[in-house]
Amino acid sequence: MDKMAIESSTSSSEETEGVFRAMADTTRQRLLHLLTLEELNVSELVEIMAQPQSTISRHLKILREAGLVRDRRDGTAALYSASAPVPMGAEDRSLSEDNLSALMLTWLKRQPLPSVTRERLQRVLQHRDASSGASFFNRLGKRWDELRTAAFGQAFASEAFLSLLPHHWTVADIGTGTGYLLPILAENFETVLAVEPAETMLACARQRIEDDGASNVKFRQGDLFNLPIDTESCDLAIAILVIHHVADPAKALEEMLRIVRPGGRVLIVEQEAHENQAFYERMRDLWWGFAPTELSRQLVSAGFKNVRHQPLMKKVESPEAVESPNLFVLTGERPDR
Ligand SMILES: C[S@@+](CC[C@H](N)C(=O)[O-])C[C@H]1O[C@@H](n2cnc3c(N)ncnc32)[C@H](O)[C@@H]1O
Repeated sequence: MDKMAIESSTSSSEETEGVFRAMADTTRQRLLHLLTLEELNVSELVEIMAQPQSTISRHLKILREAGLVRDRRDGTAALYSASAPVPMGAEDRSLSEDNLSALMLTWLKRQPLPSVTRERLQRVLQHRDASSGASFFNRLGKRWDELRTAAFGQAFASEAFLSLLPHHWTVADIGTGTGYLLPILAENFETVLAVEPAETMLACARQRIEDDGASNVKFRQGDLFNLPIDTESCDLAIAILVIHHVADPAKALEEMLRIVRPGGRVLIVEQEAHENQAFYERMRDLWWGFAPTELSRQLVSAGFKNVRHQPLMKKVESPEAVESPNLFVLTGERPDR
C-alpha cells in the first residue's frame, strides 16, 4: 500500500470510529434524529429534549466533530442541522452518498419519533412560526423545492395550466400508448379520442380509463397514416413521442392537419436529434430524433401556421434514470378558411 493509500485508509477508519462513538449514546441519537428533520437552535433542542443547555451543547459538539451535524449563523443564533449527503464526485468529501454517516442519517430520518418528542418538536416549530410570520419560509429557502415535490409531486402546476384551455374541445391523443395522458385529458376536455395501432397498448389504455371511471374517452385502433377520425372534427391533435416511430413524418403531419378544424391546434412532443445508439436501439426508434427547426418546417409544409417550438425541461429524478435525448414541444394552428 502506498503512503497516500495508508493515510486515506487511516483517516477513513478514524472517521468511522468517530461516527460510532458519536452514535453510541441515546441522547445523541435522538438529537441527530431531530436534526435530520429540522434545523434547530440550542434553546429549541433544550426544550424538546428536556435536558440542560450544557448537556445539549456537549452532545452537539461531539456530533459536529464526527461530521454528522453542521451549523450556520442566523443573526445571533447558531442553527444546527444534520449534515446533508453530497453527490458522488462532488468537491466536498464530507458525506458522499455511499458512506456510513450518510447511510446512518438516511436511516434515522425514516424512523418514527417517539410521540412525546414529536409533540414537543411541533410545539417548538409552531411557537417559532407564530413569533415570526415568515420565519418558516425564511429558514426553508431552497429546501422548499424538496418539500413541495415530496408533498405534491412535480406535475400539478403544468396540470393546472390545462384548465385554461376551452373545456368544450374534442382532443385526439394519437399514439396514446398506455394512455398515461388520458385521465388528465378526460378531466379537462369534453371528448377525448384515443388512437393507437398496438393492441396491447390499447388494452392498457382502456383498462386505465376503466379504473379511472372517465366516460368521455373513445378508443380507436388505427394509425397516423389513416386516422379513424372524421375530417375537421378535432380542436386539438396530440402526438407525444410518436413521430419518430413513423416512416413518413411529413405524411403523418398532413393527416393530423386533416382531422383538425380550421383554427384548431396541433401539439407534438419529440426527441431532439441525438446520437445515443443504446437508446435508439432500446426504443426501436425509426428516427434519431429531429432538429426542432426541421420538424417545424415540415409542420408549415403540411399546412399549419403560427408554428412554434421550445425545449422541455429535463428532469432526471432517480439514480436508475436512463440517459435519454432532450425533448421539445412543437405547436401549430390550422389556418381559418
Ligand atoms: C413511445 S410510445 C409513446 C406513447 C404515448 N404517447 C406516451 O407518451 O406515453 C409511441 C407510441 O406510438 C405508437 N405508434 C407507433 N407508430 C404509430 C403510427 N404509425 N401511428 C400511430 N401511433 C403509432 C406506438 O404503438 C406507441 O404506443
